[in-house]
Amino acid sequence: MMGKGAIIEGEVEIEDDVEIGNYCIIKGSEDFPTKIGKGSKIGDLSTIQPGVEVSPKSIIGERVTLGHPSKETQTGINSSDICPILKEFEVGDPRTIIGSGAIIRSGTVIYRSTNIGKNLNTGHNAIIREHLTIGDNCIVGGHTELDGYTIIGNGTIISELIVTCQAMKIGNGVFFGGFLSFSENKYTIPGKITYGPFIDDYVRIGTGSLLMAETKVGKYSMIGANTLVTKQIPERVLAFGSPAKVIRQLTQEEIDEFVNAMNIRINKK
Ligand SMILES: CC(C)(COP(=O)(O)OP(=O)(O)OC[C@H]1O[C@@H](n2cnc3c(N)ncnc32)[C@H](O)[C@@H]1OP(=O)(O)O)[C@@H](O)C(=O)NCCC(=O)NCCS
Repeated sequence: MMGKGAIIEGEVEIEDDVEIGNYCIIKGSEDFPTKIGKGSKIGDLSTIQPGVEVSPKSIIGERVTLGHPSKETQTGINSSDICPILKEFEVGDPRTIIGSGAIIRSGTVIYRSTNIGKNLNTGHNAIIREHLTIGDNCIVGGHTELDGYTIIGNGTIISELIVTCQAMKIGNGVFFGGFLSFSENKYTIPGKITYGPFIDDYVRIGTGSLLMAETKVGKYSMIGANTLVTKQIPERVLAFGSPAKVIRQLTQEEIDEFVNAMNIRINKK
């Protein structure tokens, strides 16, 4: 079904049972064809740029932009030429691939060179920048901006109003409370990016925390609310404070309760 005033331009393949909302613009080109998978819905006023693949049964809300051009495509400047560490985070494919069963809420913008697994769920006005790899069954909360060049595992929950940085690795079954921020440039020198924080599997981070460049939070650890992480946090501990201090070891029971809850999401079909 095609909405009023919708424009389909160039190499665009639309599979069966797709609903295209009013005034949508969907573009494809010979080099970058676009495909909208079976049973998907595209909300009113959404724009889909060339090279987007929306996999079947996805619900795209109103005013969503998919395949937004990256800085590299607009200016010819590739950030990884300036900051070589970004090379290991690059998505080789310049397209925007969105796995099946996605629910992308209104106002969200997803850039080119992104590879997203199945069942992504975003809140309103989320921003997902270029060179992001996101696994299956993840959540990106409303008004959250995921900066580019980051790798995120499966079943990870990133709540609302978070700003991540570049060159981050975020594991499987991670939970970020709201209002978090991250740094990849300890001495704030433009262009001198270091690694962002590395967040291992099944880590939970309390709301309002800030994690500095080149830190790591070890597997199963928990960071309390409003914590400033400046150093490495080992595995299986509770840490909080400003700067963060390890308070105690988490018990196996505390770890299992969280892991079991996150595994329900990770294993979602
Ligand atoms: C860290 C946390 C798990 C501790 O819970 P707890 O073990 O039940 O601890 P308590 O509430 O009994 O507090 C114990 C002490 O630690 C202090 N404390 C607790 N959390 C703290 C934090 N985040 N930062 C600084 N101090 C903290 C308490 O003030 C208390 O101090 P006192 O002994 O001097 O009175 C919890 O406070 C927390 O921060 N959870 C994160 C919740 C969150 O952000 N969820 C995200 C959902 S969106």
